[in-house]
Amino acid sequence: MKRKSVIDIKEMKSKLPIVCLTAYTATIGRFLDSEADLLLVGDSLGMVLYDHENTLTVTLQQMINHAQAVVKSTSKACVVTDMPFGTYEESVDVAFKNAAKVMKETNCSAIKLEGGQSMFDTVKYLTERGIPVMGHIGLQPQSVLVDGGYKIKGRNKFEWSKFIDDARALEEAGAFSVVLEGMAEPLAAEITGSISIPTIGIGASSKCDGQILVTEDMIGLTDVSAKFVKQYINIGELIKSAAVEYRKEVVNRDFPTKDHVYGMKPTIVKKEK
Ligand code: KIV
Repeated sequence: MKRKSVIDIKEMKSKLPIVCLTAYTATIGRFLDSEADLLLVGDSLGMVLYDHENTLTVTLQQMINHAQAVVKSTSKACVVTDMPFGTYEESVDVAFKNAAKVMKETNCSAIKLEGGQSMFDTVKYLTERGIPVMGHIGLQPQSVLVDGGYKIKGRNKFEWSKFIDDARALEEAGAFSVVLEGMAEPLAAEITGSISIPTIGIGASSKCDGQILVTEDMIGLTDVSAKFVKQYINIGELIKSAAVEYRKEVVNRDFPTKDHVYGMKPTIVKKEK
C-alpha cells in the first residue's frame, strides 16, 4: 500500500472517520504506521519529550530532526509536520522559506500551522506554491500566553462566528484539513457541517471528521489528565515495573545469567612433539 496523500485525507471527509495520532520518533512511527491515516509530528513534542512548559520554545531544527525520523520509519501514513512558533507569522516569504525547508529536508507530506483568518494570506501563498497545509483553530497552544491559558472555545454562542469564519478562511485559502482543538461539541459540529475539508478533533467531540490524540497521552507516558484524553494502556507503569525488576535482579546478581553472557572460543591446544 502506498503512502496516503493529502488528497486521500481530503477525500475521506464524510466517509470514514480519519484516524490521526502524533508521532515524534522512529520507534513510535513504526508502531503506528499501519493504524493511523495521518501522523502528526506535533510541536507538542516540546512539552512531551523535552519537558518544556509550553510549545513556544520549539525550534525549526527540532521539528525537522523528529519529522525525518518519522518519515523514515513509516510508509503508509500521511506525515504532517508542525511549523513551530515564530517560523511563519512574520510574512508569507518567511513562512514559505521555512515551510519549504521542512518539506525538502524531511520529505513529509504537509505542514500544519495555527491560526484561521489571520493566516489566510500565508496558507494561500504556501498552497499556491506547492506546500500542502493543515490548519489548526480553536484552542491554539502557541497562543497560550496571550490567551492566558488553555481555554475551551465556543461554550458561549457569541464566540462562534469567529471560529466558523476561521474555518471558512482556511478552506478558501486552500488548506486540505483543519484541526479543531478544545472546542464545545455543537461548535465543532457546526464547523464540520459548513466546510468541505475534513475537521480533525482533539477535545472537540466525535462530530469532527477525524480524531487526533497525543500518542504519549493515550499510552500513559504523560500525566495529562484532561477530560478529552482517553488512556488506552499504561506503558509508563509497564516501564516502571520492568525497571524495578531489572534493578532487583542486578542487585541480587540474578542478571545476567549464563544465557546472556559470552564464553571463550574453544582453544586449540597444539600437541608438543
Ligand atoms: O502539537 C500537537 O501535537 C498538535 C495536536 C495536539 C493537534 O498540534
